[in-house]
Amino acid sequence: MAIKQLIEAPLVVVTNREPYIDERVAGGIRTIQTAGGVVSALDPLLQEIGGNWVAWGSGNADIEMSSGGQRQVPPERPRYTLNRITLSPEEVQGYYAKYSNQGLWPLSHMLIERAQFSRRAWQTYRSVNQKFAKRVSAVSPPGAWVFSHDYQLALFPAFVRKTRPDVTIAHFWHIPWPPLPIFRLCPQHQEILRGLLGADVLGFQSEQDVEYFLNAVERTLKTTVNRETGRIDWQGRSVHVKSFPISVDVNAIEAMVESPRIRRWVRGIRRHVDRRDQILGISVDRADYTKGLLPRLDAMKEFYTLYPQYREHVTYLQIVVPSRTEVAEYRRFYEQVEKKTQEVNQRFATNGWKPIITLPHSLDRPRLMGLFRAADFAVVSSLVDGMNLVAKEFVAAQVDKRGVLLLSETTGAANELEHESFPINPLDPEGFANTLHEALSISADERADRISAMRKHLEEHTIYDWMADIFLTLKMAAQSYV
Ligand code: F6P
Repeated sequence: MAIKQLIEAPLVVVTNREPYIDERVAGGIRTIQTAGGVVSALDPLLQEIGGNWVAWGSGNADIEMSSGGQRQVPPERPRYTLNRITLSPEEVQGYYAKYSNQGLWPLSHMLIERAQFSRRAWQTYRSVNQKFAKRVSAVSPPGAWVFSHDYQLALFPAFVRKTRPDVTIAHFWHIPWPPLPIFRLCPQHQEILRGLLGADVLGFQSEQDVEYFLNAVERTLKTTVNRETGRIDWQGRSVHVKSFPISVDVNAIEAMVESPRIRRWVRGIRRHVDRRDQILGISVDRADYTKGLLPRLDAMKEFYTLYPQYREHVTYLQIVVPSRTEVAEYRRFYEQVEKKTQEVNQRFATNGWKPIITLPHSLDRPRLMGLFRAADFAVVSSLVDGMNLVAKEFVAAQVDKRGVLLLSETTGAANELEHESFPINPLDPEGFANTLHEALSISADERADRISAMRKHLEEHTIYDWMADIFLTLKMAAQSYV
């Protein structure tokens, strides 16, 4: 069934990041569509059915390109309303850089020593969540379905519910949910839970996240939860808690890598790689400590040490996209990655060959998918990751079925792809090196079989299934009010 047929009320999408950013550049203003799973799934849907998207207007030309905080998008063929929330530099610091990214982000990824909370940042986080709720309450038509996202907006559902009890809210948590002893370290953990429980449907990436969340609710709010159904009775309502593993659009990625332009790009890369008798490995990450970039460089060092036969033959291209540069820790982290990369290169480089090539920015999506198609292996080595869509995108782009996927066991994606990928422990450099050697040693037939099996799984679990599942649950929740 087409997704739009499932939607029985006006739709309001709420995210921290906006789907279209207006940026001032030399010679004028450029509108950029942001990348990412949620935008690529929900923007086409809103373009089809119309509606509202509410997000932080982070572009430096957003204000001048909006009227009354609103802009019709996409610019070339306006179909829905983007409602931009303007945040002051202090609000960005407290809400985004501090409470979200120095507090909830590391804590949710169980990296407790990195987590920092301050009451001042909390107050800002709270007031910005309130600001989002106020805007959503103002633009939502009666009985609307509100689909909000992630840890930046944990308090938002309860704030909206207070002013607009007529709307039905689904909130999806994209990152891991930590076990209770860790979650409790958040000084405002009870408020975070109460905020989220304002939703009618709460979605997580995995069964384990759901389990940890239910446990947190049960133990800290002393509420009974029904583990069979995932239902929580909360303040006279039901909250439905469920796992909805996010995914990709395999057909769209396939069409992208089969376009004449990308086929030419892939042929060019392969010619270059084969002429030099190389094996090409790839990784793509935001420069974030959760992605395991530093241990991965240790593992590559180990790989070239334990298996010298790969020197001058395995070239590893790491795409490291600077991220959250307003947080000093992220800037320092980026420098550490650069330094360690240099060390490995200095140790193994020979005349005319460098083991690691770094690309310090992302590519446009079709070319990135083309690179995935051309690669012999991809590495996803997150320490902890809610899902990791790079793993799924690599599989979807591998239409020639030549590549192997090394996938950290501690990602959400591993729940679905662990049998045909090569599981790695990101903190075991020798094990990682051995696994890479093993993966590069299997036959072409086995590589093709593994990719085919993973592609089949993805064809049966697409981003549209993810949306459909959430909207069906939302519909059921909305009907229970009637
Ligand atoms: O998946 C977690 C997440 O924070 C998303 O909300 C966001 O799109 C992505 O990581 C990138 O992070 P940021 O928006 O902080 O650059």
